[in-house]
Amino acid sequence: MSRVRLGVNIDHVATIRNARGGDHPDPVRAAALAVAAGADGITAHLREDRRHIRDDDLKRLMAALTVPLNLEMAATDEMLAIALGCGPHAACIVPEKRAERTTEGGLDVLGQQPGLRPVVAQLTARGCRVSLFIEPDPDQIEASAAIGAAVVELHTGRYAHLSGEAQAAELARLAAGATLAAARGLEVHAGHGLTFDNVAPVAALPEIAELNIGHFLIGEAVFTGLGPAIGEMRARIDRASTGSA
Ligand code: PXP
Repeated sequence: MSRVRLGVNIDHVATIRNARGGDHPDPVRAAALAVAAGADGITAHLREDRRHIRDDDLKRLMAALTVPLNLEMAATDEMLAIALGCGPHAACIVPEKRAERTTEGGLDVLGQQPGLRPVVAQLTARGCRVSLFIEPDPDQIEASAAIGAAVVELHTGRYAHLSGEAQAAELARLAAGATLAAARGLEVHAGHGLTFDNVAPVAALPEIAELNIGHFLIGEAVFTGLGPAIGEMRARIDRASTGSA
């Protein structure tokens, strides 16, 4: 039976820390708690504006983590140099706009192949598993395979914000995207906007190997604590992905 990996995104622990400019709460401490609660990996996004995770957090995560680190990054020269310098287990390339509140929409791999191909090649040569964060769009999936990515992370943000029939249609698009990506030899991840209520149908898609979840878990931790929030998410993913009751 498959067991979908859970990557916990700790960015918003740093968001809270940065609100007061001090050291608390420490995202590295949160990462250790997340691992103890069942996370298979830690995800962190070093944004160009350093609004949450900072360079020093990345260094400390690399030194302290006992599980793989998935570094989310824009395909800029600065971020490429940082990723090549620290060599995280995985690098997930995301589109980044200064004014956005979070990663809006997927990467336009099809339109940016000449720029992205060497970034994928350099990170891969450094030993990183390179993932491209894309909409579940067949053209973007084909382009991701064509430029040599090992992984695609399918953007579940649209799915998460819809309901009823529209959500079912978006789930069908994710399912078809996952099937196509796997057929092209890509490992399939998914994430963005996932919660206790909407995670199961995505976790149940047979090609999904990993889910990356952040904002909901850190928010839920306010009420129940980080360990129980992650434990509950872990249980829901396990039930959905292994078909157990
Ligand atoms: N995957 C990617 C590529 C992301 O950019 C994010 C948000 O940082 C997530 C997953 C997690 O999304 P959320 O915080 O909504 O769970």
